[in-house]
Amino acid sequence: LRSDLLSAIAAADTLDAIEGVRVAALGKQGNVTALLKTLGGMSPDERQTAGPRIQALREAVTGAIADRKAALERAALDARLASETLDMTLPANALAPGSVHPVSQVMDELAEIFADLGFAVATGPEIEDDWHNFTALNIAETHPARAMHDTFYFPDDDSEGGAQRMLLRTHTSPVQIRTMLQQKPPIRIIAPGRVYRSDSDATHTPMFHQIEGLVIDRGITLGHLKWTLETFLKAFFERDDIVLRLRASYFPFTEPSAEVDVGYTIEEGKRVIGGSGDDANGGWMEVLGSGMVHPKVIAACGLDPDEWQGFAFGTGVDRLAMLKYGMDDLRAFFDGDLRWLKHYGFGA
Ligand code: PHE
Repeated sequence: LRSDLLSAIAAADTLDAIEGVRVAALGKQGNVTALLKTLGGMSPDERQTAGPRIQALREAVTGAIADRKAALERAALDARLASETLDMTLPANALAPGSVHPVSQVMDELAEIFADLGFAVATGPEIEDDWHNFTALNIAETHPARAMHDTFYFPDDDSEGGAQRMLLRTHTSPVQIRTMLQQKPPIRIIAPGRVYRSDSDATHTPMFHQIEGLVIDRGITLGHLKWTLETFLKAFFERDDIVLRLRASYFPFTEPSAEVDVGYTIEEGKRVIGGSGDDANGGWMEVLGSGMVHPKVIAACGLDPDEWQGFAFGTGVDRLAMLKYGMDDLRAFFDGDLRWLKHYGFGA
């Protein structure tokens, strides 16, 4: 019996099998248990010799089962560890990193340039009311400039009408008004953001980006305006030979007003910003609207125009990006086409 049991234990190759052997030997109906029970019916003499042998058998079997069980458990753990190893040499799944959009990039560049000149960044709502977008900027209800703005109006149900009427802002100039109403001069801010006009072709999209500049202080002149624009355009285009041309113009909210052109020259068949536009191989490109803040606008914001003067300017961020990075179709900015971004060096 002893050698039968020991070989059955050695042959058991699963934890279930070894449990089966244990029950068959040491369980209630087990054959070793049965042997132990025979001790009760023996004479003292017989028990004296058979007792220790049966006990020794029981201990041997119990010990062999425990050893075998431990060995099987160790083997099971080893197998599990082997099957669950991580192969650190496998290549990782590729994660496509995002990249900064040219419009965001240019807005960041502008914020940095103007921060160096002491300008803070101001913001205002894209859903604006008629008063901030037009009236306070000296664009009265009947002003022809309103027609030029191709405004998206919200339905005017509750017929508050007039100054209360809501619209999508057509320019960043209402941020001038909000800033003057909120802050005491001196004021030096830029206001980048989205603006909306009902217009769409290769150079117009219904949503585009502008950046507004506003300075209000005592004794501000056109000279300050010109120096600021020159300094900013030199930094933005990273060239010292930027030449500006201020052309008399008209905006209801500035007087006098100037449109600002920047000179470009043809280098290797391409338009490059820099140099005088009057050169034989050059020309002028309009980049900005600007002027001295109209006294009526200053007064509409509760400031005394005899004490406070200032200048303002506004320009298209998308346009600046096109000029700096050489893109030619504005609509591509908002198509989300990665090939286009990569082509201009923005994709990862
Ligand atoms: N708001 C004007 C526009 O949308 C630009 C501008 C801003 C002009 C500030 C003068 C001063 O075109």
